Amino acid sequence: MTKTLLILTGHSKGLGKAILEEFLNLENVKILAISRSTLGLDREDLQEISLDLSDLDTLESKLPELFPQGDFENIILINNAGWIGEIKPVGKLEPKTIQQAIQLNLVSPMILTDTFVKAYGDSVATKIIVNISSGAAHKPLPGWAEYCTSKAGLAMFSKVAAEELKLKGIKVYSLAPGIVDTAMQADIREARAEDFPALERFLNYKTEAQLSTPEEVAGKILYLVSNPEKFEEVIQDVRNFSVG
Ligand SMILES: NC(=O)c1ccc[n+]([C@@H]2O[C@H](COP(=O)([O-])OP(=O)(O)OC[C@H]3O[C@@H](n4cnc5c(N)ncnc54)[C@H](OP(=O)(O)O)[C@@H]3O)[C@@H](O)[C@H]2O)c1
Repeated sequence: MTKTLLILTGHSKGLGKAILEEFLNLENVKILAISRSTLGLDREDLQEISLDLSDLDTLESKLPELFPQGDFENIILINNAGWIGEIKPVGKLEPKTIQQAIQLNLVSPMILTDTFVKAYGDSVATKIIVNISSGAAHKPLPGWAEYCTSKAGLAMFSKVAAEELKLKGIKVYSLAPGIVDTAMQADIREARAEDFPALERFLNYKTEAQLSTPEEVAGKILYLVSNPEKFEEVIQDVRNFSVG
């Protein structure tokens, strides 16, 4: 029997890749990992699926194969794929990027959560959904309208879903990972100061070595999903807990 099923989005780089590596080190795990690009890893415990999660029609057509049935003890969904969006003030945005950012950061996690419940709601397994949110869900940052809005929506969705799904024994978290040294932070540092007033602060995070590594954060996420009884609140921030 496979002990743990993990469905992970955004596994091809950054935080998602580090989460993937944590789970690949475990025994008895089946992993479905979804990004547009794949790593090409040849592992029996891993199925990589190339999918653009900002495209609703493609996602809908693939849904049936993303949630395999089986006799699992733990079933975990980590909605990690995300995009900072177009870093520009309101009044300079593009309809297409507004749609893509909200679809990827909010609509897709909602759809995947909903499908998870349909597939596993009645299973006796331990069931956990982690939506990777951001401090930006709770704090407006000029230039990040798409990002802040989508992450705030994801945090609220997590709270509603957690309340509804308690009776089915499904734990839902909205988890802020802190400031992590990934391609997303590199993209943020490329923003134009006139579009993003906080640019200098983000440049300093890098030069002053204030960023966490994806590996540190992934270790904390593994700790959270392995010890859900220690984490009561829906809204979590990795900066507020340590492993062990
Ligand atoms: N880095 C930070 O400081 C920070 C802070 C707060 C929150 N977060 C959140 O943490 C999560 C991971 O971020 P990260 O920093 O690791 O970002 P990243 O390095 O840019 O990685 C993003 C991941 O999402 C996937 N992805 C992007 N667009 C996609 C699409 N349209 N369809 C499917 N997959 C897509 C990417 O793979 P492909 O390009 O191959 O599709 C990649 O695997 C995100 O939700 C982000 O909002 C990050």
